[in-house]
Amino acid sequence: MIKGFLFDLDGVIVETAIFHYQAWRKMANDLGFDISEEFNETLKGVSRMDSLNLILAHGNVVLLEEEKIELATKKNEHYLTLVSKMTADDILPGVREFFAQIKQTDIKIALGSVSKNAKMILEGVGLINDFDAIIDGTKISKGKPDPEVFLKGAAELGLSPEECLVFEDAVAGVEAGKNAGMKVVGIGHAEVLTKADIVLKGFENIDLRQLLSKIQ
Ligand code: BG6
Ligand code: MG
Repeated sequence: MIKGFLFDLDGVIVETAIFHYQAWRKMANDLGFDISEEFNETLKGVSRMDSLNLILAHGNVVLLEEEKIELATKKNEHYLTLVSKMTADDILPGVREFFAQIKQTDIKIALGSVSKNAKMILEGVGLINDFDAIIDGTKISKGKPDPEVFLKGAAELGLSPEECLVFEDAVAGVEAGKNAGMKVVGIGHAEVLTKADIVLKGFENIDLRQLLSKIQ
């Protein structure tokens, strides 16, 4: 029986991928190459340093570790100026209504994000108090598709993996949920999120009981 929901943040609760893309693209352009929106798709759910390494490899740029840290720091400062303007209006459609349905049940809610900025973003959009547990990039050592983030989320909720349902928009995130031994709801396109147990376009008009009856 499902007793806990584990939500990814970026692309599930708020749409921040565009801001990550803008900040990474500026960095790449400054280094003399460009990254496409299609390439940006491959960065979803991937940690900051892993994303940087993928981008540098894409541009055939080789750097020292300290230069990489400097670039990642600068990218994050740019990203923070972009996300600091986010408000409740930036919560993805249907999320608040879906949370309201969850609150009428005994199901617990946790965050499972590799972002180190997750708490700041949840505070900015006014959702931080809706979570019973928050596992973010500051609490994990391995990024998705490693299951660590979701296993820690389940542990903090006091639940077993089989009692948890993951909501994820990234291929790496869906894999992380499956690697954790959990059922996964993909948010996005079924052709992309092929390993998810079920795929929704988003949370608009989603009936919690109907969803649970399909997944259990
Ligand atoms: C994930 C995003 O949620 O967080 C990735 O999908 C991002 O694109 C990662 O790289 C790390 O985020 P942050 O905020 O710690 O740089
Ligand atoms: Mg995501």
